Amino acid sequence: MPRILLVGNAVLDIILRVAHHPAEDEEMRALSRRSDLGGNAANSARVLAALSHRVALLATLAADGEAEELRRLLDAAGVDTRHLVRVSPPGGRTPLSTILLHAASGARTIVHHRDLEEPRFEEFRALPLAEFDWIHFEGRNVAEARRMLAYLDETGHPARVSLEVEKDRPEIETLLPHADLLLFSRAYAEARGYPDAAALLADMRRHAPAALLACAWGAAGAWGLDASGRATHCPAQVPPTVVDTLGAGDVFNAGMIDALLAGAGLEAALARATRLAGRKVGQTGFDGLGLPSARLADTAA
Ligand code: FRU
Repeated sequence: MPRILLVGNAVLDIILRVAHHPAEDEEMRALSRRSDLGGNAANSARVLAALSHRVALLATLAADGEAEELRRLLDAAGVDTRHLVRVSPPGGRTPLSTILLHAASGARTIVHHRDLEEPRFEEFRALPLAEFDWIHFEGRNVAEARRMLAYLDETGHPARVSLEVEKDRPEIETLLPHADLLLFSRAYAEARGYPDAAALLADMRRHAPAALLACAWGAAGAWGLDASGRATHCPAQVPPTVVDTLGAGDVFNAGMIDALLAGAGLEAALARATRLAGRKVGQTGFDGLGLPSARLADTAA
C-alpha cells in the first residue's frame, strides 16, 4: 500500500453556522457551533487516510492544550502523528480559524490567526523519507519548502511530489518546477489576474513543463493540463443542497492524489476529485468520504 507524507498545517477550526453574515458592529447568535481539525494538509491527510492510504503529516504543534486536541483528532482519523514537531514553549499558539458557515449557501468565511513556526528543512530531512511514495506540500513557508523540494530533486527521491498553490505568496513560483502535480486554487488564479482556470494553467506550464496541472473552480468544475498540452475540463458534481464548502479544495486535492496513485490518467483523476469534493460540499464535515459507497459511485460514473 503506498505511503503518503503531507507537509503543511494543522489548525483548530471553530465553525459557527450562521443565518447571515454579520454587519460591522452587529451582535448575532450562531445557529450551531462545532470545533474540528483543520488546515489544508491535515484535511487532505484525513481524507486520504479515510480512503485507506497510509498517511503521515509533518506539521508543527504548539505547546498548548489545543495542540493535544489536534493530535488526538489526527490519531482518530488514522493519520500517523509521529512526525509532528512540537514547538517548545513559549513558541506561539495553536493556529486557529474562526469560520462563519452560511446556513443557506454553505459558503464559508475564514478568519485565521497564526503565531507558530512552521516545519523546517532539517526536520523534513530527518524523516524516514525513503518510506514515502508520494509527498504533498502546501505551498506556504516558501523558503523552507524550497529547500525540501530541492533536496528531493538532488537526492533523486523516487516519490511523486504534489504542490498545492492556494495563495499568492512571495516567490511561490520558485516551488513549481519541483512538483509532478500542481494543484492551483481559484483564489490564486484570481489574485494573479487570470480570467479563468484554463488561462492560468496554460501560463503556468512554463514553470513546470512535465507536470500535471489542475485547478478547481467551484461550481464551474475543474480544469487540467497534461504534459503533452492536452487540456481537460470536468464539470462539478454539485449536490442538490450545498451545506458546507469548508475544506472542499483540500478534499479535491486528496481525490487527485488518490486517483493518480491508483494509476488513473488526468481526466479520470479530475472526475474522481470533483466527485469527492461534490460529496463533501453536500455534507457537514469530512466523515464518510472514504466509505465504499463513495467508491462504488465512482466506478459507476
Ligand atoms: C480549509 C482550511 C481550514 C483552515 C483554513 C486554513 O481549506 O484548511 O480547515 O482553518 O483553511 O487557512
